[in-house]
Amino acid sequence: MPPAYGPGPPTMAGVDVIRVDGGARLAGEVGVVGAKNSALKLMAAALLAPGESVISNIPRITDIAIMGEVLRRLGCSVAFSGDEVAVDVPAEPGSEADYDLVRRLRASICVLGPLLARCGYVRVAHPGGDAIGSRGLDMHVGGLSRMGADITGEHGFVIASAPSGLRGATIWLDFPSVGATENLLMAAVLANGTTEIDNAAREPEIVDICGMLTDMGARIDGAGTSTLRIEGVDELRPVRHATVGDRIVGGTWAFGAAMTRGDVTVTGLNPLFLDIALDKLVSAGTTVETGTDSFRVRMDRRPAAVDIVTLPFPGFPTDLLPMAIGLASVSEGASLVTENIFDGRFMFVNEMARLGADIRTDGHHAVVRGRERLSSAPVRATDIRAGAGLVIAGLCADGVTEVSHVHHIDRGYPTFVADLLGLGVSIERETAPEEPAFSF
Ligand code: EPU
Repeated sequence: MPPAYGPGPPTMAGVDVIRVDGGARLAGEVGVVGAKNSALKLMAAALLAPGESVISNIPRITDIAIMGEVLRRLGCSVAFSGDEVAVDVPAEPGSEADYDLVRRLRASICVLGPLLARCGYVRVAHPGGDAIGSRGLDMHVGGLSRMGADITGEHGFVIASAPSGLRGATIWLDFPSVGATENLLMAAVLANGTTEIDNAAREPEIVDICGMLTDMGARIDGAGTSTLRIEGVDELRPVRHATVGDRIVGGTWAFGAAMTRGDVTVTGLNPLFLDIALDKLVSAGTTVETGTDSFRVRMDRRPAAVDIVTLPFPGFPTDLLPMAIGLASVSEGASLVTENIFDGRFMFVNEMARLGADIRTDGHHAVVRGRERLSSAPVRATDIRAGAGLVIAGLCADGVTEVSHVHHIDRGYPTFVADLLGLGVSIERETAPEEPAFSF
């Protein structure tokens, strides 16, 4: 029996495909639930206190189920119910995360900090790189070393120990890494003394985890700024916490509306988290109205070309890069799109080229000359965001676009096809038969 934590890579039985009719216009209201990239870390943060923490507004996606399995193997009892997960953490959690789970969920590395803080020892499989880039761990490791941990890499594992506890330290990050900031933060809340993380990440997901940790009894100053000051405490208590809305899912629908001359209202998300992205859409010609927890994007013409540069928050999010390329592909004029976070993020432009997009990349820049219409074709999703971007691009193509390997999309969008159906798109999903094998 395979383990029950989701589809994982495609099986020999075939790959799932999404077929989408071009020429649709996204219109209507769509709700977003909690952010995957926050919920995963909030679940790991539960490890910091014995007892039951409950996290609500979680997205029902495979990655969350895999994180549940990671926690179970660490001795926690994990129960999912509706949009909540209850994580009951034992007094002495385990300290190992194996490769069979870490390779399916790179974010499992976020148990490194909390387990080291709780147990004084941790052995987590090295996640390696993935389809969007090489993805180093040097800042995680360097920061924990400054806090007194002894860290080695052996047989594909990162092994860290701090038998007499971690101590507060000043840590300068070379780059505001989201994952390193989270790991160091979760280690620092139980360290002896005060830790300062400079050049810390400022993403809304970081503010979310700081909020949960503070409710657990942690002392954190500067959430949402580049300097986090954490005064270590002896112990934390379990809490209930609601996950912040998913700005990348909301941003996907916003770009979809702009690209299809649509009219979409997104609810469940503070529009300030998408400030620069929405501003770019305004420059492209959309009308954007914002509320406290919702926004509406309307477009009545072909978008004008805009240049977009991805940067850590509050910059334009790298996870919306495929949507930025999609927008540029159908805009009037040429756009320069620059990616500054992941070295492999442009891998998917070859698939966009199959849809007729005119894109030239050079290093981390792409020059995109917009076309009035794209041309439908079978294409392949290479990662979560590229997959979603290809489906949205398919809306601007003539005919039916078939996107294969859409299990990637499932990892970030809990109700992708249903949401698009609700926005008036003609779309279907099915399992395609196995590709034929050739032999001599
Ligand atoms: N980096 C290093 N050394 C480190 C840490 C990071 O070189 O020690 C590099 C990475 O290789 C990468 C860059 O710094 O080139 C940014 O990495 P960061 O640590 O900020 O990203 P992450 O924590 O690995 C999270 C999200 C990503 C999102 C990025 C940037 C999760 C689970 N993942 O990754 O989300 O793109 O932050 O915002 O939170 C996605 O959801 O599709 C996704 C890829």
